[in-house]
Amino acid sequence: MQKKTVEDIDVSGKRVLVRVDFNVPMDTRGGIEDDNRIRACLPTIRSLIARRARVILCSHLGRPHGRVDEHLRLGPVARRLSELLQQPVVSLRETTGPAVEHAARGMQEGDVILLENLRFSPGEEKNDPAFSRELSGLADIFVNDAFGASHRAHASVVGVADYLPCVSGFLMEKEIEMLSGLLEDPARPFAAIMGGAKVGEKIGILEHILPTVNIVLVGGGMAATFLKGTGYGVGTSVVEEEKLELVRMIAGKAASYRVRLLLPADVVVTDTPGAGASALIVPVTQVPADRMIADIGPETITLYSEALNTCRTVVWNGPMGIFEIPQFSEGTRALASVLAGRDAMTVIGGGSTAEAVAQLGLTEKMSYVSTGGGASLQFLTGKVLPGIAVIPDK
Ligand code: 3PG
Ligand code: MG
Repeated sequence: MQKKTVEDIDVSGKRVLVRVDFNVPMDTRGGIEDDNRIRACLPTIRSLIARRARVILCSHLGRPHGRVDEHLRLGPVARRLSELLQQPVVSLRETTGPAVEHAARGMQEGDVILLENLRFSPGEEKNDPAFSRELSGLADIFVNDAFGASHRAHASVVGVADYLPCVSGFLMEKEIEMLSGLLEDPARPFAAIMGGAKVGEKIGILEHILPTVNIVLVGGGMAATFLKGTGYGVGTSVVEEEKLELVRMIAGKAASYRVRLLLPADVVVTDTPGAGASALIVPVTQVPADRMIADIGPETITLYSEALNTCRTVVWNGPMGIFEIPQFSEGTRALASVLAGRDAMTVIGGGSTAEAVAQLGLTEKMSYVSTGGGASLQFLTGKVLPGIAVIPDK
């Protein structure tokens, strides 16, 4: 899959709308916890600046669902980008409209502006053509460098390609190349470790990844739904009730594909998942009614480590527990160090998994760290992601 890239076109003097995935983890005071997704787009942005383009960046942050959320403004991201580029980045307070058009018209060659959070506009997630037209009206060319959002058929990912010539950025190009290489002929056994948040969605992806892998290890938020679907009590853990049927079906499907679907044998439970919270290790048969699952337990760590030690390819998306809180970080830590010590193809996908691995100082020990979480998993199912489909081939 060779897509046209930003290198294949003349950008000099042009207004270039660049979709990036600056959906970075923020702390409670509005600080950026991990700026890797910003750094990952620097090659594209720098190349455009060097070639005298007028660079109009756009991204989503979090899920404000069409409304302005003061905590999800992109101002802090623009400041960090400006530090990294060592040049001003104009941070706009809107995504479209007269002020944005005025700013875009007033740009000099090599200038960079960042539009406000795209998801403040209801048209973004709906892929509303009117919104796509407004966005595309700002520019002459569309560059998609937002691999992490390429599984979303949103206006800024697919819609604008109806109105502007479209190419991929360097990050998009690299992600496609690396992940295609992995998909082509993976060394086996091939394991997927699945955890983290966005449980409902990931259970859907898990179903579609079964034909590709040999082993699936379940942890994080989705463990509770799997355990409940298997008939265990999960206390006060959040469960996707409407996915219980699917979870049972997945177990059957895994068996028919001869995939080993591993669920936790023991878990760490707590009453409240805050700092200083209680932590108790229990077998999955004995989760107290007033406690929630916050991590996988030591027996599970052993079980999962043994499974991973046989694997030659591993894709990991989503921490095993509430990694930010030390009492619930052990499962994630343990699996990260197992992978770091393996002579295997290890692919880490997604914001929080990459952040966890980076915090442990193990990024360099992994074969590849993708900026996409859901996107990289869906890519591995063999599905052509909507944001990639709209980019013409070379
Ligand atoms: C991500 O963090 O996975 C991407 O930025 C996409 O975000 P979303 O799941 O809110 O669409
Ligand atoms: Mg994410």
